[in-house]
Amino acid sequence: MLVLGIESSCDETAAAVVREDGSIVADVVASQTAVHAPYGGVVPELASRAHLVNVVPVIEQALATVDGGLGAIDAIAVTRGPGLVGALLVGVQAAKAIAFVRGLPIVGVDHLVGHLFAVYLRRGESDGPVPALPYVALLVSGGHTAIYEVRAHDDTRIVGQTRDDAAGEAFDKVAKLLGLGYPGGPVIDRLAQRGDPSAVELPIPMASRRTLDFSFSGLKTAVARLVRERGVPQDEQALADLCASFQRAAVRVLVDKSTIACERLGVPRLVLGGGVAANRGLRARAAEVCRAKGIELFIPDIASCTDNAAMIAYAGALRLSAGERDDGLALTAYSRNPDLRRGKVLSKKAR
Ligand code: KG4
Ligand code: ZN
Repeated sequence: MLVLGIESSCDETAAAVVREDGSIVADVVASQTAVHAPYGGVVPELASRAHLVNVVPVIEQALATVDGGLGAIDAIAVTRGPGLVGALLVGVQAAKAIAFVRGLPIVGVDHLVGHLFAVYLRRGESDGPVPALPYVALLVSGGHTAIYEVRAHDDTRIVGQTRDDAAGEAFDKVAKLLGLGYPGGPVIDRLAQRGDPSAVELPIPMASRRTLDFSFSGLKTAVARLVRERGVPQDEQALADLCASFQRAAVRVLVDKSTIACERLGVPRLVLGGGVAANRGLRARAAEVCRAKGIELFIPDIASCTDNAAMIAYAGALRLSAGERDDGLALTAYSRNPDLRRGKVLSKKAR
């Protein structure tokens, strides 16, 4: 079975073709980072317009690498939510049009379920082992931060989540405070490599072992207070030290809570996913703690961690294999945030 996946929930327009075993035939992502960077966050109306421009070329590019092109496709999977409603609509309408014209089955996919199963995507030689079910997944992106217990594609449960900012959002906001541009996660990651993580004392958010929930706004505020009192460090080493200290505080709590979740649930397998899973500090700390606690750790390729359509196609294939179909597909679970309707510049979490 060859599934065409389409993703347009936020600021990436993506199309991919994937087999039901997770092997990727085509994977195309058009990023809108440059469109939104001047605003320091995703502008919903600009996102919808860029998706409109990109959606057909991206799908054509993905199909161009498939023997037989669209004629070889057996089914369509598309992100149906959560995300920006105008952005989602572009992908959903494109998917419905193709399904209608070619008489193909269509399934809607929850974007987060896509992330949770991205670890099964096969990209080639660098592929690592895949986890057995059930597993615990830490999903950390610009819009979401949660720990899941994953039992099957239709049996996933949140066991802990952020009460305010998403982890990626905290990285982006701190980077903005330090004048490092958007998105800031990769820049903080790079600077942190050269910094001393014990140089600046910052609060470890929600450190208590009693809850598996997170909170990142206090950590961000602590950095904001430092910047207000002392200004942005002008010295390169001092800037690197602050980035390393912030990163350590954020990463510690993410890894501690996810590994505690593994122990509590009696599930010694942890999967990382979402854009922040690219963070070198997070990967290193997760490897260290999992080794010490006897937990197997699975980290997908970076291209599978960030938003992509291959994960949507694969999660769609799981639904199709279970006999599920969504003829007459409609959107679900998009943000009820009224600011969206006013076209305000939003952080990713507010989608
Ligand atoms: O999953 P993603 O591509 O998009 C969604 O939010 O759905 O994640 C993007 C987020 C941004 O907040 C970005 O700053 C963060 O992931 N990010 C990182 C790194 N690479 C991307 N955060 C920390 N370290 C990184 N290396
Ligand atoms: Zn995502």
